Amino acid sequence: MKRICFLSLKGGTGKTTTVFNVAANMVKKGLRVLAVDLDPQGYLTCSLGESTSEGRKNVHDVIKGTPIRQAIRETESGVHLLAADLELTTADLFLEGDHRELYIKKAIKDLDYDVIVFDCCPFLGILSLNALVAADELVIPTEPEFLAMRGVRQLYLKVVQLVQKDLNPELKFSGVVITRFDTRKKIHHETAFKIARMFGEKVFDTKIRTNVALAQASAIAKSVFDHAPSSNGAFDYNALSEEIMQRYELEAKE
Ligand SMILES: Nc1ncnc2c1ncn2[C@@H]1O[C@H](COP(=O)(O)OP(=O)(O)O)[C@@H](O)[C@H]1O
Ligand SMILES: [Mg+2]
Repeated sequence: MKRICFLSLKGGTGKTTTVFNVAANMVKKGLRVLAVDLDPQGYLTCSLGESTSEGRKNVHDVIKGTPIRQAIRETESGVHLLAADLELTTADLFLEGDHRELYIKKAIKDLDYDVIVFDCCPFLGILSLNALVAADELVIPTEPEFLAMRGVRQLYLKVVQLVQKDLNPELKFSGVVITRFDTRKKIHHETAFKIARMFGEKVFDTKIRTNVALAQASAIAKSVFDHAPSSNGAFDYNALSEEIMQRYELEAKE
């Protein structure tokens, strides 16, 4: 069971869009996929057409002790979802105890999926830490901008190495995805080149181009493959999913 955490310390870098469309694509390729929404804003939950309002079980309930299978929803796209809700905002307060970074790892341990993907919020609170401890692979989506690139480096140097050393030696920083790539901007080409030089093989060949179909699709709770199958967004996320599957040895079951 591959467990991939998508994290960056900057908002708006396309994390949620990436988690959503990669998960939906993998389902189309026959994989059993669970998406865990660890952002209290719940954009992934909404993108998958689910509500974050009370009355349904979500991550917060699982942390409080609800068995995880009771909280997993099957969404229209076929992606299974452990949903977020605003109560998660206070996770830093209600997650107590000596091993508060282990809740998600413990909760998922008996599940049987081909892959679990974690969508994180853009800061390193206890929820992101839970994802880093539960995952075996870390993928950082980044825009091809200088400050974003610095953020990737900082995340790697300061955070990942600490987590690997003290909390989760299994965690591998194994992917960088360049998102929101504007092919017309020279600076994007230059920065993408620098990112490739800095992170070498970790950088996926596929760059996700800026494409309005991606924003439109999420807004109506559809994956880009269902909303605009011949768009650049669909092409890029299909290519990225294939690269991810190859890198992490996930086989299509079409
Ligand atoms: N490649 C892209 N092209 C155009 N819009 C995008 C692209 N990727 C993301 N967006 C839009 O940008 C906004 C932020 O993306 P999102 O995936 O929510 O970022 P994050 O989860 O990192 O905060 C959303 O409105 C989303 O629809
Ligand atoms: Mg997000």
